Amino acid sequence: MGDTGLSGKSVVVTGAASGIGRAAALRFAEEGAKVVVADLNAAGAKDVVDAIESAGGTAVAVTGDLSDRAVVDGVVAGAVDAFGGIDVLVNNAGVMDSMSATADVTDDEWERVLRINLTAPFLLTRAVLPHMVAAGSGAIVSTASEASVRGSAAGTAYTVSKHGVLGLTRSVAVMYRDQGIRANAIAPGGTLTDIATGVDIDQDAHGPAVVGRYMSNMGRLSAPEEQAAAIVYLASDAASSVNGVVLPVDNGWAAV
Ligand SMILES: NC(=O)c1ccc[n+]([C@@H]2O[C@H](COP(=O)([O-])OP(=O)(O)OC[C@H]3O[C@@H](n4cnc5c(N)ncnc54)[C@H](O)[C@@H]3O)[C@@H](O)[C@H]2O)c1
Repeated sequence: MGDTGLSGKSVVVTGAASGIGRAAALRFAEEGAKVVVADLNAAGAKDVVDAIESAGGTAVAVTGDLSDRAVVDGVVAGAVDAFGGIDVLVNNAGVMDSMSATADVTDDEWERVLRINLTAPFLLTRAVLPHMVAAGSGAIVSTASEASVRGSAAGTAYTVSKHGVLGLTRSVAVMYRDQGIRANAIAPGGTLTDIATGVDIDQDAHGPAVVGRYMSNMGRLSAPEEQAAAIVYLASDAASSVNGVVLPVDNGWAAV
């Protein structure tokens, strides 16, 4: 990739205790960035900070539920306090739904999935933009999903939330491009992480029965590091003219 321009930059990665976010936090630190590891999993976040520091890098953990506005404010304040500003925001924390079709989505599932997957990225983006505008530069990368571009990759709540992430990305890309700010997204296909662990998916429910048959086109599963490489690229100077795109990282699933 050449010089990524990330050395010394202040980077916030949400959902950084596990999976794609963890791999991204480690990659940013390898590039010399100072990383805010934001997650509700305090032990996992501490492990990532320890791994970065043992390798000679710089990181701090900010823990809490990002669907809580006070936690979002704490993440931004923590980054500004620790590193003097925010150059890169990676909206990555997310949860899977129960694969339910529309008529089976409960109010609780809708609220929870939309709050974590879409409202939290909005709140974080809104909170970091004044800092980026003041600096005259910034990059926002969001972990969208194959479910951002098709109706057959998850249940209704997750699909809607991830379509919304693309809307947020494109809106910011257009409205802030003259202020030196870029907003892009990756759309991972199936990736080997813990996201489905503990998720209550009723295999006999309407959703999986409907969408499951379309998933045979998914192809091989990606490693979290393959997603992280795309996130770091979009945040880096190598992508200085790339703004408002969604980059599938899906072994060709979107091409089928
Ligand atoms: N794994 C896949 O197949 C896949 C495919 C497409 C998109 N994605 C997206 O990738 C992103 C990362 O997921 P992953 O696969 O690495 O899963 P993961 O479960 O390994 O990691 C998600 C992290 O987000 C954190 N998190 C969840 N809710 C949170 C909240 N409210 N506040 C703070 N932190 C919270 C979790 O504690 C966890 O550390 C998600 O946005 C997910 O939707 C994953």
